[in-house]
Amino acid sequence: MVFQKLTETVKYIRSLSPAKPRVGVTLGSGLGSFVKELEVEQSIPYKDIPHFMPTTVEGHQGNLIFGKVGSQSVVILQGRNHYYEGHSMETVVFPTRTLALLGIESLVLTNSAGGFGETMQAGDFMIIEDHINLMGTNPLMGPNIKELGPRFPDMTEAYDKKLIEKMELAFQKQNTRYHKGIYCGVSGPTYETPAEVRYLKLVGGKAVGMSTVPEVIAANHLGLRVAALSCITNLAAGLSRQKLSHQEVTDTAKKVEQQFSSFLKDFIQAI
Ligand code: HPA
Repeated sequence: MVFQKLTETVKYIRSLSPAKPRVGVTLGSGLGSFVKELEVEQSIPYKDIPHFMPTTVEGHQGNLIFGKVGSQSVVILQGRNHYYEGHSMETVVFPTRTLALLGIESLVLTNSAGGFGETMQAGDFMIIEDHINLMGTNPLMGPNIKELGPRFPDMTEAYDKKLIEKMELAFQKQNTRYHKGIYCGVSGPTYETPAEVRYLKLVGGKAVGMSTVPEVIAANHLGLRVAALSCITNLAAGLSRQKLSHQEVTDTAKKVEQQFSSFLKDFIQAI
């Protein structure tokens, strides 16, 4: 069923664009404006794509975009669906699988996250080195779709080491401060309690968010190389006097928009 749906989706997209980029990018909360850096060739609203779900969260536009970053062809998912919206995991990872079947080799995922690493501040960036899946489920549950990948995918290097190096070089080139660490993926939609944040710190995390982990799992299943970046939009619950709000998340993402875009532009061209 899923593979059949993917085939229909890819056929529709192919009827609008013959492009075969090697690189795919997912833009997270408030980070969609990277598209301004892009030479857009084709923009397709999610609502027009068979089996795609329109986005509902504020700060998430829903478009699949083909374009160029310098000489690098890319396909961009501007906005994502989240598990906390009530979507099935199958729906959450459907766009990621679509990109793989369109022929990408590397996937760059971006998100907004709460930070709790030492010296972290709102507005910092964190290169994701590894993750802990605390969402309580896994997008590969159910019968394995053998056309997509193996039953028991290896996750030893879920985040590609060479891509991590390239991200570091791009940050160094821009003189932008960055962290590296483990991202804890939770279901949301509540933000964490301070006790939960202390727990996540104890188990070795540095950032927490409500996305990315399902896509990384689906992408590894498909054999893609994955790079992922968190924009630390806020200090996690209990670490500042402020209460957490989605407004703070999108405000911070907006503040670092320029830095984020120029980093991504450099990094994508280096892939
Ligand atoms: N927790 C979980 N998800 C988030 C946060 C947070 O503090 N900030 C942005 N996304």
